[in-house]
Amino acid sequence: MSLRQRRILIGVTGGIAAYKICELVRRLRDLDAEVRVVMTEGATHFVTPTTFQALSGQPVRVSLWDEQGEAAMGHIELAKWAERVLIAPASADTIARLAHGHADDLLSTVVLATAAPVYVAPAMNQQMWAHPAVQANIGILRVRGVGILGPADGDQACGDIGSGRMLEPHDLRDLLVASFGDQVLRGRRVVVSAGPTYEDIDPVRFIGNRSSGRMGFAVAAAARDAGADVTLVAGPVSLPTPPGVSRVDVRSARQMHDAVLAACHGSDIYIGAAAVGDYRPADMADHKLKKVDGSPLRLELTENPDIIAALAALPAHPFLVGFAAETRELTSYAQDKLRRKGLDMIAANEVGPGKGFEVAENALHLYWQGGDLTLPTRAKTELARQLIGHIAERFLSGHGPNP
Ligand code: PMT
Repeated sequence: MSLRQRRILIGVTGGIAAYKICELVRRLRDLDAEVRVVMTEGATHFVTPTTFQALSGQPVRVSLWDEQGEAAMGHIELAKWAERVLIAPASADTIARLAHGHADDLLSTVVLATAAPVYVAPAMNQQMWAHPAVQANIGILRVRGVGILGPADGDQACGDIGSGRMLEPHDLRDLLVASFGDQVLRGRRVVVSAGPTYEDIDPVRFIGNRSSGRMGFAVAAAARDAGADVTLVAGPVSLPTPPGVSRVDVRSARQMHDAVLAACHGSDIYIGAAAVGDYRPADMADHKLKKVDGSPLRLELTENPDIIAALAALPAHPFLVGFAAETRELTSYAQDKLRRKGLDMIAANEVGPGKGFEVAENALHLYWQGGDLTLPTRAKTELARQLIGHIAERFLSGHGPNP
């Protein structure tokens, strides 16, 4: 991958993660990107402008009142120069000032003056990140089309553990690289479900299935790379969250139903890659069921809600893409699900030993009203990219260009 002749402006704000931006600048320069750095006054307490100047090979601007830098309206020149603006780490204060349109320092002024896509990589204490004020400000930026990259979960510099860590430099680099690709879903909100559901029998046993979540996680990452704001509702899987994707963890089909319906409010596309349990035990036992020698155990099962059909029944619902996992009669079963569940498209795959579930590769057959297409076997990551391209094409043909 190369970023030759790509012009990236990085806004560094006051947070301990500022030191990681030195690495990011290096990595972007390795890809031949042209990088300029603007720092807030707060950022200079963590890393010096000289460091970024040495790494980027360009003068670093801090103040709006720099007479030399502003001799030829430097803030406008910077805003026009940038093809991408990334603010990382983005402090709670900077996020608030961007959300409310402040222009009282160089960075906020450049953000108002630029026509380039703006990305924000939040970094703060987990309690601060969870604060309703911060979440409201992030909501404002999201609606305005600002890309929110992260934050990630994990250990924090303050000793807390939780959500609020800035994404790692290599993740930010990869997201910037992806942002120069085809951003066919830029400004769109996409919800993806992935993985299995577990239906508890008693406190130690459950009914589950073989889904690893790999297909759905790859679809979420591909939608993100296409510029979408992605929420991933994940059943119990042991996969890392794709950077830049918001994740909601659930266990049962009913929890997935509630999480998907909440996430889909106001969204544009729902992609149901999860292998949702169709049934659950009618009653979950409070205690571990005891073996009774010589007697069979009968479990009564009751039907789970059908998540994607529930979405289809809403008066205003997103573009609906289902998956069909079949061991035989792929076409007829998939086309039946397309019609019966009221879907816009269905991606059918054969499952069985070494096929569909768990493995790294897959093949898909896409069906929609009046058409179909085969995507032959390849890595799920690549297949997901192709699938997103076809979903975007069909979605946009019905909804016009991106906002
Ligand atoms: O996770 P991996 O190991 O990578 O495997 C990928 C996969 C095989 C799980 C994936 O590619 C796949 O096929 N997912 C859908 C599996 C499935 O449950 O298919 P289905 O034919 O039973 O369901 C049809 C559609 O209805 C699916 O979109 C499903 O999410 C949805 N559904 C099903 C039941 C239910 N109660 N609610 C639903 O929304």
